[in-house]
Amino acid sequence: MEKKISVAIDGPAAAGKSTVAKIVAEKFNYIYVDTGAMYRALTFKALNQKIRLNDEQALFGVLLDTEIELRPSENGQLVFLDNEDVTAQIRNNEVTGSVSEVAKHRSIREEMVRRQQIFGENGGVVMDGRDIGTHVLPNAEVKVFLIASVDERAQRRHQENFSKGFPSDIEKLREEIATRDKLDSEREVSPLKKAKDAIEIDTTSLSIHEVAESIMSLIEERKR
Ligand code: CDP
Ligand code: CDP
Repeated sequence: MEKKISVAIDGPAAAGKSTVAKIVAEKFNYIYVDTGAMYRALTFKALNQKIRLNDEQALFGVLLDTEIELRPSENGQLVFLDNEDVTAQIRNNEVTGSVSEVAKHRSIREEMVRRQQIFGENGGVVMDGRDIGTHVLPNAEVKVFLIASVDERAQRRHQENFSKGFPSDIEKLREEIATRDKLDSEREVSPLKKAKDAIEIDTTSLSIHEVAESIMSLIEERKR
């Protein structure tokens, strides 16, 4: 029987992780796990409940009482928070601007990693995030670290917003991305970092197709 392996895709915001992870997962019929969506869902709930984001204990209490599900659908992966579809809401600016504050807490990360490892326990998974290759799936057969310049990443988000019908300010996007990069890379607990055995791909001047193809050939090699 063909071996089902684990694929870890990490990197900063808008490097193209989720877009290529979905393509690759579909190609091999693997499950796709968007770990950022889990941190976003918790942040959305905490903001609604007006929890202070530096109150780790209160946030942890909320998380233990929270069900986050990633459900595949014809329109891509849907995110359910306590059985409610929050796929669109968790991408709003308020959540985007607050999520790194929530994700920095040790107890929150430990519980999220525990849940993510359950998704990955049987292989056949493509997981994207910030600490997948370093902490969540340290034994993943394929580890990729995607990067791109801040300008290119802001441009990509700008284009994405435009195609969804939301105009955005590219300078603000650039600032938001740079701030989040800094918070995610400098936090104490499992910061955004390339795993020693990850392959770095600079996607600044690559198409989605080119990035997906390189990851697929890595998988083909390791699957044998
Ligand atoms: O899609 P985008 O790159 O904007 O972000 P995301 O993958 O949805 O992740 C949102 C935030 O969650 C990140 O900026 C991190 O603060 C946090 N995160 C994390 O700490 N660890 C992960 N494995 C995934 C996300
Ligand atoms: O998941 P992450 O935040 O790393 O990025 P994404 O949401 O997959 O990608 C951000 C945007 O960049 C999407 O609109 C992609 O279509 C686009 N993209 C691109 O133009 N070229 C690439 N090589 C990768 C992504």
